Amino acid sequence: MSETVHLELGARSYDVLIGQGLLARAGELIAPFAKTKRVFIVTDQNVARLHRPTLVASLDAAGLRNWTITLPPGEGSKSFAGLEMLTRHLLQAGVERNDLVIAFGGGVIGDLAGLAAGLVKRGVDFVQIPTTLLAQVDSSVGGKTAIDTPEGKNLIGLFHQPRLVIADTAVLQTLPERELRAGYAEIVKIGLINDAPFFEWCAANAAALLAQAPEAEAPRQHAIRHAVAAKAAIVAADEREAGQRALLNLGHTFAHALEAHSAYDGALLHGESVAAGLSLA
Ligand code: NAD
Ligand code: GLY
Repeated sequence: MSETVHLELGARSYDVLIGQGLLARAGELIAPFAKTKRVFIVTDQNVARLHRPTLVASLDAAGLRNWTITLPPGEGSKSFAGLEMLTRHLLQAGVERNDLVIAFGGGVIGDLAGLAAGLVKRGVDFVQIPTTLLAQVDSSVGGKTAIDTPEGKNLIGLFHQPRLVIADTAVLQTLPERELRAGYAEIVKIGLINDAPFFEWCAANAAALLAQAPEAEAPRQHAIRHAVAAKAAIVAADEREAGQRALLNLGHTFAHALEAHSAYDGALLHGESVAAGLSLA
């Protein structure tokens, strides 16, 4: 069963759809937003190998012409070099102002593709299809897009809200346990900010949530819906972080320093840095 969280931002409002098996329905779900019926999938090599066939089949079935641009996995793609490669590929593939970009991957692809969509032709609409736990609970929602530079993380970016977010919990079945744990940090963060009962729920359900078993589906969907609803309420009240949205950065000053120190080389995942940062904070 799928659930919907609405993020209310006036003309920039959108829905976050959460549920098992949504990827196979992506075409019909995206079609209302695809004005030209032309879509550009941005993904990484891991996600392409595991899940691109399902997405492409559903886009084809919905009559949406599609092109795929595949980047190397990892934080290194969230760079000026990655942005240049992606924006130039989009232009060479013939992207037009009313086409649609699909960010299909974890937070790296979401942040990078969202930024590219915001820049190319002065702004193309985009849809988020997050495929990591971290991206489903956090990064795909709220419209922050960015790349990293040697000066720091996420310092070059835009607010560019997606038109729709499709979080298929079934794709998490292929996610390595280490990546699941990294996503769990951003879930616990929501409990720590202002939701003691949810923090207690996390403590009681962590093992079930992180299990690589079908039984993990129900607690995962609960955690994703709860975290997204909490984030959506904060973003709706403070889209551009004039005040309370800064709560969502709990632990992140430490986390970003740790990541910058490791030069985004993958030794420390973003979610692992957040876990350490939450402890330090
Ligand atoms: P990621 O995008 O690097 O994905 C992690 C790994 O999982 C990659 O190797 C990827 O190829 C692989 N993968 C993705 N989906 C998979 C699947 N279904 N099965 C198997 N493998 C899969 O990392 P992430 O943790 O998703 O995102 C981290 C990024 O998110 C950081 O750059 C961080 O700054 C950003 N972030 C942004 C926001 C925001 O509000 N914009 C919020 C939090 C984090
Ligand atoms: N991840 C922090 C924010 O979206 O504001």
